[in-house]
Amino acid sequence: MYNNKIINVFNKENVSSTPIWFLRQAGRHIPEYFSIRSQSKDFIDFCLNTDLIVQSTKLPLKYYNIDAAIVFSDILIIPWAMKRNVEFVKGVGPVMDPMIPNETEILNDIDIKNLIKPLDQALKILRSSIPNNVALIGFAGAPWTLACYMIEGHSTKDFLLTRKAVWSSNNWFNKLIDSLIEYVVDILEMQANAGADVLMIFDSWAHMIPSFFWKDFGISPTKKIISNLRKRNILIPVIGFPFKAGSSLINYSYESGVDGLALDWTVDLNWAIKNINPNIVIQGNLDPASLIDKNNNLDKSVKLILDTMNNKRHIFNVGHGLTPECKIENIKKVIEIVKNYNN
Ligand code: CP3
Repeated sequence: MYNNKIINVFNKENVSSTPIWFLRQAGRHIPEYFSIRSQSKDFIDFCLNTDLIVQSTKLPLKYYNIDAAIVFSDILIIPWAMKRNVEFVKGVGPVMDPMIPNETEILNDIDIKNLIKPLDQALKILRSSIPNNVALIGFAGAPWTLACYMIEGHSTKDFLLTRKAVWSSNNWFNKLIDSLIEYVVDILEMQANAGADVLMIFDSWAHMIPSFFWKDFGISPTKKIISNLRKRNILIPVIGFPFKAGSSLINYSYESGVDGLALDWTVDLNWAIKNINPNIVIQGNLDPASLIDKNNNLDKSVKLILDTMNNKRHIFNVGHGLTPECKIENIKKVIEIVKNYNN
């Protein structure tokens, strides 16, 4: 097997320094990203082009001494496969045909693995061509977050349509979540079998779940996804990322079945140590905004994270994706501090 620090942390083995990688590391903060992206007609096309997936996944490895590569794709590939006409509009973000709550037809029986074969092929190429000490990360969106986009049709301030659909307690919303669970399991299983070493589930709109429904839509779908993966003999670690879920992180960490929890940048790590399930790995949680301008507190803030997580099972990361404004030199500096850290 590989000698990879991220896998070692999951396996409770000692590591010489804290492993590090960055959410959205393969994106617009790297200049070459734009020339790779311009080779496809649109963003979905890009996500379905094996060669371009391979190139963009490897891009951050050229710049950074990091311990993981996250495969280039998008969580919205599932709504695309469900024929929601997903498009990425410059300056707006993702848009798609909104589903009307109570819409009778939820697409079941989609052969998702067949529709996203390029991702499967890319992972196979990547696993055999990136160094063994770099973990390959596969991912999917959590059912709640995918349902949010599918019901609203785009990002909104408060996801009111989705929350209304939940409170109306109709079977329709549960059916949508159930089909999403199936597709997420399929897509994660495919990525694991193609060579992913770790899987991550992004629940970017977890903070929109009413607390009354937290167990039903924040915890239960992830729990089902993980137990279905285990039944299919996918045994690799799963990291959950319920973004800004606050106090709900506690029961998520004990009940969802995740092996690792990614924390957003608002979480106090001392609070996390006291409250989060001590048997899981913590990933995070530097604010990506700290990497934009010249920042005199960068050194101090990175070391504070390392000091707090010292002797704990920890993967260094940002608390949300890098933005296009993040500076390569700041990111390099963070990596250097983490790699040279001695307590
Ligand atoms: O580098 C990586 O992390 C791997 C690839 C990756 C992308 N999206 C590529 C991407 C990953 C892991 C994602 C996850 C994703 N996608 C999430 C969960 C994480 C989060 O940010 O909360 C979400 C909510 C999405 C949906 C999505 N995709 C949005 C809202 C947007 C627009 C955001 C923006 O900043 O414009 C995207 C587009 C997208 N996905 C880009 C990239 C590199 C930018 C596309 C471009 O214009 O080139």
